[in-house]
Amino acid sequence: MDINILKSKKPKVLITGANGLLGQKIVKKILIDGKYDAIATGRGPCRLPGEWEGYDFEQMDITNKKEVMEVFKIYSPQFVIHAASMTDVDRCEVNRHSCFEQNVTGTKHIINGSEACKSHLIFLSTDFIFDGKNGPYDEEDRPNPLNYYGKTKLETEKLVQNYPYNWTIVRTNLVYGTAHDMSRSNIILWVKKGLEQHKMLELVDDQFRTPTLAEDLAEGCLLIADKGATGIFNISGEELLTPYDMALMTAMFFGLDRKGIKKTDSSHFGQVAARPLRTGLIINKAKEILGFQPKSFEDGIGILAKQIKLADYKS
Ligand SMILES: NC(=O)c1ccc[n+]([C@@H]2O[C@H](COP(=O)([O-])OP(=O)(O)OC[C@H]3O[C@@H](n4cnc5c(N)ncnc54)[C@H](OP(=O)(O)O)[C@@H]3O)[C@@H](O)[C@H]2O)c1
Repeated sequence: MDINILKSKKPKVLITGANGLLGQKIVKKILIDGKYDAIATGRGPCRLPGEWEGYDFEQMDITNKKEVMEVFKIYSPQFVIHAASMTDVDRCEVNRHSCFEQNVTGTKHIINGSEACKSHLIFLSTDFIFDGKNGPYDEEDRPNPLNYYGKTKLETEKLVQNYPYNWTIVRTNLVYGTAHDMSRSNIILWVKKGLEQHKMLELVDDQFRTPTLAEDLAEGCLLIADKGATGIFNISGEELLTPYDMALMTAMFFGLDRKGIKKTDSSHFGQVAARPLRTGLIINKAKEILGFQPKSFEDGIGILAKQIKLADYKS
């Protein structure tokens, strides 16, 4: 790919974890909107759709400080959207060293690179910094993570808050969507596939989240860049739902037999890492300051369904 981005006058946005679900949606939105130039970075080779053009891709493992500093030196981005993270909560619990390296050490390198370029640093965090005793949470609520993933994200938030230039922390929860060559599944894809294969699926009805369409999250991140908004912002959907509710809505949308969906609760459902029960995020601040307005969960499933049908990640 030609590096004409270096000569472009548009502000540059460097995205970490661009092979991931959110990363791909951010690159796509930048290409569609045309306001920024995108530098997509990822661990290993590019896994974005082959037909996408007009952005640069750099292999950049965030745990490798030298690699990170070199990429920042080449591009000197105005904005950095730091989406790369070890996101599998149960793996984080058992592979603590690796989790710390990806989530904390890696972010230190991104902070160093951003500082050298005085970039506006936008960091992706999680509802799992909370204990789930009294959600949904706003930006002022007190964190108290229950699992190791949440602890590393909270520790990283504190590092970001000491960044000397513009910083924004974006807290989100239960992100769903589909993207090209994904390394992880999410609730809608998992339920759809399981029911199509006539499996019995167990879903908890005592955990609450405000599920977030990946496109909405990408839009929220870019609204932050557009407005130069700093501080902490919750960016998520608005409906407080349990995974059981989400599974039923998914079955109904795709016309699948809901008999395969069995209700359970967290005390019976063995998960390696403890999950906060009632989280979910209050998004009034993002609505007021950014003009952010997420889709309903049903509309979100509709968008995803269209993309699955067309295997279309362009529109
Ligand atoms: N998904 C959710 O439900 C959720 C909820 C709350 C917060 N968040 C936060 O939102 C952000 C985006 O999540 P997502 O849904 O897009 O997750 P994702 O699909 O798992 O994407 C994360 C990306 O980070 C990359 N990555 C991991 N370690 C890396 C490293 N050392 N160097 C470079 N890249 C690395 C992964 O690379 P590979 O593809 O090579 O594995 C992956 O592409 C994350 O910061 C996450 O903590 C997500």
